[in-house]
Amino acid sequence: MPSKHQDSRRPFAVGALLAWFQANRREMPWRDQPDPYAVWVSEIMLQQTQVAAVRPYFTRFMQRFPTVQALAQAPIEDVLKRWEGLGYYRRARLLHQAAQQVVEMHGGRLPETAAELGRLPGIGPYTAAAIASICFGEAVPVVDGNVARVFARYRLLRDDFSKLPARQALAKWLQPALDGAAHSGDLNQAMMELGALVCRPRNPDCTACPLAAACSARARGVQADYPARLARRPVPVRPEVAIALRRGGRLLLARRDGTGLLGGLWELPGGGVVPGETAAEAAARLLRDIAGLEAGTLTAQGSITHAFSHFTQLLHLFAADRIRGRVKIRAGGALAWVTAADLDRLPLTTTTRRALDLQRDQPTRRRAQRRGASPRAVAAAKAHRARG
Ligand code: ADE
Repeated sequence: MPSKHQDSRRPFAVGALLAWFQANRREMPWRDQPDPYAVWVSEIMLQQTQVAAVRPYFTRFMQRFPTVQALAQAPIEDVLKRWEGLGYYRRARLLHQAAQQVVEMHGGRLPETAAELGRLPGIGPYTAAAIASICFGEAVPVVDGNVARVFARYRLLRDDFSKLPARQALAKWLQPALDGAAHSGDLNQAMMELGALVCRPRNPDCTACPLAAACSARARGVQADYPARLARRPVPVRPEVAIALRRGGRLLLARRDGTGLLGGLWELPGGGVVPGETAAEAAARLLRDIAGLEAGTLTAQGSITHAFSHFTQLLHLFAADRIRGRVKIRAGGALAWVTAADLDRLPLTTTTRRALDLQRDQPTRRRAQRRGASPRAVAAAKAHRARG
């Protein structure tokens, strides 16, 4: 039987939800900013990242690129640098492309409807609906993971919300609520905020929930069973090697191909370990293939794992010493000898930053002493490492 809140215009207690939102909304640097550009940047950052992690990135990004024109004119390397550590770098590349389109095709102003916004690179239906409702008051529902969880519980839906038809069906059900709302952006943000703060994936706080009275999962005590858990494919582990090669206080880095995973970011030269090969053999082979060099010694320096959405990288780090051969560096090419100052300026992959930290912590003294170096040479090697 429908509850008193469920009429055709208001499928749930909209007023109670909005009142809850006014009292509980988190402060966010992009909230209450009328600037659509700021909201757009924040929504792109929030696509795969939580609010707390986004905050400092958003602030630094807006300082460097305060307008869509500033972003459109910036070199992609600068954009990636401000994105470094936030992950899913494709978002940054598409945001940059979209900024150029907004400047070239829309006179520097963001389009105002979800349909038009959705034609820009990197803006899918959920982001388009968020921007159009928050900035321009369009009555379009946002169905992100938080909203899907709230209403999967509320209505006992077992759909797979990673699929478009399930999200579209939920959007259709939510539409009358948006049509009747004075501020559709507030209602969308209230639904997202409820999912993030109260109707959490684990331990939902139903006593604080403005929708609890008519929530079907709560009535049956089955909140933990919704949304339906999907069988996840096991994530493969990819063994890779990275090689730290130093010469004259500089470190050899390689730039990843522009469009693929982590495209345009810089990393230590290396690559995948092929079946039947040890990590050290892979390091020697890759050093030859990438840079045309032979290493007298390759010293294992430990390993790092890093989780991507579809695989886990197991990175074995090596230091190459007593190098024979010369690296052919071409202008604009993918290899460069970089200084410590360059390391602060270039966008690096997260594993490269972690690998360099790991290397810095290596027992310099023990390795140098094994090679029979004097205490003075050990100190010099340490100072050199600190610089490089
Ligand atoms: N997640 C993504 N966008 C959001 C927003 N505008 N408010 C709250 N949570 C969000």
